[in-house]
Amino acid sequence: MSYRSLNDPTDTAHLEAMPGRSGGVQELTLPVIQGTLGPSVLDIRSLYPEKGYLTYDPGYTSTASCASKITFVDGEKGILLHRGYPIAELAEKSTFLEVAYLLMEGELPSAKEYEDFSGSITIHNMLHEQLRNFYSGFRRDAHPMAIMVGVVGALSAFYHDSLDIRDPQQRMIASHRLIAKMPTIASMAYKYAIGQPFVYPRNDLKYEENFLYMMFGIPTTSYQVNPVVAKALNKILILHADHEQNASTSTVRLAGSTGANPFACIAAGIACLWGPAHGGANEAVLNMLREIGHKDRIPEFIKKAKDKNDPFRLMGFGHRVYKNYDPRATVLRAACHEVLAELGRKDDPLLDLAQALEKIALEDPYFIEKKLYPNVDFYSGIIFQAIGIPPAMFTVLFAVARTVGWIAQWMEMIEDPSQRIGRPRQLYTGHPMRPYVSLKERTTA
Ligand code: SDX
Repeated sequence: MSYRSLNDPTDTAHLEAMPGRSGGVQELTLPVIQGTLGPSVLDIRSLYPEKGYLTYDPGYTSTASCASKITFVDGEKGILLHRGYPIAELAEKSTFLEVAYLLMEGELPSAKEYEDFSGSITIHNMLHEQLRNFYSGFRRDAHPMAIMVGVVGALSAFYHDSLDIRDPQQRMIASHRLIAKMPTIASMAYKYAIGQPFVYPRNDLKYEENFLYMMFGIPTTSYQVNPVVAKALNKILILHADHEQNASTSTVRLAGSTGANPFACIAAGIACLWGPAHGGANEAVLNMLREIGHKDRIPEFIKKAKDKNDPFRLMGFGHRVYKNYDPRATVLRAACHEVLAELGRKDDPLLDLAQALEKIALEDPYFIEKKLYPNVDFYSGIIFQAIGIPPAMFTVLFAVARTVGWIAQWMEMIEDPSQRIGRPRQLYTGHPMRPYVSLKERTTA
């Protein structure tokens, strides 16, 4: 299938007459560009230069910031594709590193390509030994996301041979380093918090097995990876890998558009993901379920969530794009049952409470009318908790997974010949020009 060039409009749109710069009225014809799937776009690039108008779209509800071939989300139908492959199939049949390759390279790898790629990730999984010193600078009770932002941002101080973003080879090495080192950095943040020694990665383990080993292994005993847990973690990492132009991905793209090095861009993405409205929601869901405590209290919290005067929101519910069930939540809910049953915890009270909350919410007119469904963060924390990951580490795992999506989107932007520095405009509502008033005059005024 040939993709339409961005300068090859499929149609034109005529905006209603509107006041021109010099008064009077004018018509405007804008190119309409249709992608492979999803809504067409009005190409408004000529709007300001030729007509002096800006568009106004706080929160970017109706704005396409770029053209991309990586991920497609149909929010009405609850569809998520990575390079055309449905997320449920990838979660069931693929591995996280294979999905990473797919997102970055555009096609599923051959056996040789996969061997080379996963081999390259493996040899980059250790950290420069001096980076260990960064951890001792944090308080033991520092949130691990604070550590992730700091340590990942600091990587550019250690890997000077992969900072030149104009060099494809350096971009590739920096990308592999980031994918490889995120689990190491994350597990070190966890070990630091609990006062246990850091565990070095092992090259004989798979990506998700190594992460579990570095998280839960201790020097005094040999650690056996539980295959059930490793399979669940592989699935969770795949489900969190990429999600088109979400807030943290847009942050990475914007940072990358200035020419910032990839380590700095990914650190910016981690900082953005931390927010409870975004990747921080998985931790917030667990805290919310603990606060609710019992099914009898669900109506009280549903009432709070509906109360405009109450800042409380049902965490793990709602989505800017999905106005249907988030397909990732569907997979995660099933995985919850599988993992808890296989770990002998099928009657986990948190899962019972979550399912009761989901049922009540989905039958409530407020949630139905506003099309608020469980999103990726609603069930993920229950599995994390079941496999021994503490709530403060939930968003860290989200960041580990989303690093491959951030990198794929960053690479696509860097390689796009039409990319320019991102620089939105504004609707100015402040003071018109006025003369300075000295302090003496101000105090007497
Ligand atoms: C992620 O963008 C992505 O792709 C993100 C993500 C990814 O993979 O990168 O999918 C990951 O961030 C998932 C979302 C995790 N966040 C949460 O679960 C936090 C709870 N959800 C909400 O904060 C909210 O739903 C957002 C932030 C997710 C979406 O916010 P929007 O699109 O700006 O929607 P909105 O705030 O304008 O809400 C629309 C209406 C409002 O009511 P009205 O003002 O129209 O009367 O729905 C209400 C909101 O008050 N609403 C909720 C609600 N979410 C929205 N009411 C109660 N509980 C909620 N959770």
